[in-house]
Amino acid sequence: MEKILIVKGNIIFTKVSNRFECYEDHYIISINGIIEGIYKVLPQKYENCTVKDYGERFIIPGFVDLHLHAAQFLQCGMGMTKKLLDWLNDYTFDLEKQFQDVSFAKEVYKRFADQLVAKGTLRACIFGSTSTKGTEILFEVLKEKGIGAYVGKVNMDRNAPDFIIETTEESIKGTKYLIEKYKDEKRVRPIITPRFAPTSTEDLLQRLGELAEKYNIPVQSHVSENIDEINWVGALFPDSKNYVDVYDKHGLFGQTPTVMAHGIYLDKDELNRVKRNKVTLTHCPDSNVNVRSGIMPLRKYLNMGLQIGLGSDIAGGHKIALNEAMVRAIQLSKLVNMRKPEYEILSASEAFYLGTKGGGSFFGKTGSFEKGYLFDALVIEDDEWIANRYGLEDRLESFLYIGDDRNICARYVEGCEI
Ligand code: GUN
Ligand code: FE
Repeated sequence: MEKILIVKGNIIFTKVSNRFECYEDHYIISINGIIEGIYKVLPQKYENCTVKDYGERFIIPGFVDLHLHAAQFLQCGMGMTKKLLDWLNDYTFDLEKQFQDVSFAKEVYKRFADQLVAKGTLRACIFGSTSTKGTEILFEVLKEKGIGAYVGKVNMDRNAPDFIIETTEESIKGTKYLIEKYKDEKRVRPIITPRFAPTSTEDLLQRLGELAEKYNIPVQSHVSENIDEINWVGALFPDSKNYVDVYDKHGLFGQTPTVMAHGIYLDKDELNRVKRNKVTLTHCPDSNVNVRSGIMPLRKYLNMGLQIGLGSDIAGGHKIALNEAMVRAIQLSKLVNMRKPEYEILSASEAFYLGTKGGGSFFGKTGSFEKGYLFDALVIEDDEWIANRYGLEDRLESFLYIGDDRNICARYVEGCEI
C-alpha cells in the first residue's frame, strides 16, 4: 500500500545555489518517501488524507554532513592549538584505539548518533576506526536511528602507532566482512575508507581499489589537507605524479563514487582529475581553521563547477551541527574576500545548498524538495517575534546562525518521522 505523508507549513529549500525557493503556507506531499509535489491548494484526490499542519513553522531539507569521524566524537574541542599531524599523533590515535572495546564503542557511538540526529543531520559520510568490531557497532547504532549514512572502517597499515594499525591482510579482511554484511542495507551502507595516503601501503590501496570495483562500493578519504602531509605523500610515493595520482592509480578516485575531504592545495592536474572523475570534495571550514591546514579555495572550485559538499570533520571541526559549518563557510569566505575581493563571499543560499543538495547528491536525490527527491526534512520553530516580523529567508538565515536542536521540532527521513 502507498504510504502517503502530507505536511503543511512554510517550505524553503535550494534547487540551485544562488537563491532560495520559498512556498509559504503550502502542502508538501510524499508518497513512499518520495516527494510528489508542493501545492498551495491540496489536490482533490488527497482530500481525505490527514495533514500534519506545522502552522507558522518552516520546513527545510535535512542536513547532509559529507565528512566526520564518529571515533573522534569525545575529543571535540581538544588539542586545538596543534596542527594536523601532531594533533593526530598526540590526541586522535589514542582515542580511536579504544573503539576495539565493544562496550566503549557502544556507549560513545550512541552519544555520537544522538547528537548528530538532534542537530539535524539526516545523511552523513562517516569514518569509524580501524576496529572492525567497533565499526560494526557504528553500523548498528546508526541503523537504529533511522538516518542515512555511509560508514567506513578506517584502513591503515603503516605510519601510525602499532596499537592502532593492522596488517594489510587484517585490514582487507575486516573491510570485506563489513561490505558483505551491509552492502544490501537500505540506508546505512559501507564505504571504503583508507584514512589517507600516508597511512596506507601501495598494496593496501591496490586491494581497496579492487574491493571498491568488485562490490561497486563508494570511497572516502582525505586529500591535500596540509602542506607537511602533501610533502610526506611525495616522499612516500615517489612514483606518483601528485597526491591525487596516488588514489587515482589504485582505483580510489572516482572509479566508484568518491568523496574526498579538504582538497585545499590541489594543483591544475589534480583539479582536472577531480572534475573528470566526478569526485566530490568536502569543504570542512572549522577543521581548516582549527588545525590550521589552510582555507579551501571554495569560490574558485565553485566557479570551476566542481561537486562540493560540507563537512563538520568532527573532531578537526569542533561542532557537529551542520548549520554551524554553513555559517563558518560564509565567515571564511568573508576573510578570503577581504584579502582577495575577486573571490566573492558565499551567500546564505549557497552555504545552505552545500549542506543540503550539494552534499545530498552523493546519496542520490536528497537534499532538496523537488519532485522525485526523498523527503528528508527538518521542521523548524523559531521565536514568534522573529516569525511574525520577518520573511522566510531571514528566518532561515537566523536559524542557521543562532539556532540549534531546541529549534528542531521534527525530523523526517524518506517520509518517516524519526
Ligand atoms: N588526515 C588523516 N586523518 C585525519 C583525521 O582524522 N582528521 C583530519 N582532519 N585529517 C586527517
Ligand atoms: Fe577528517
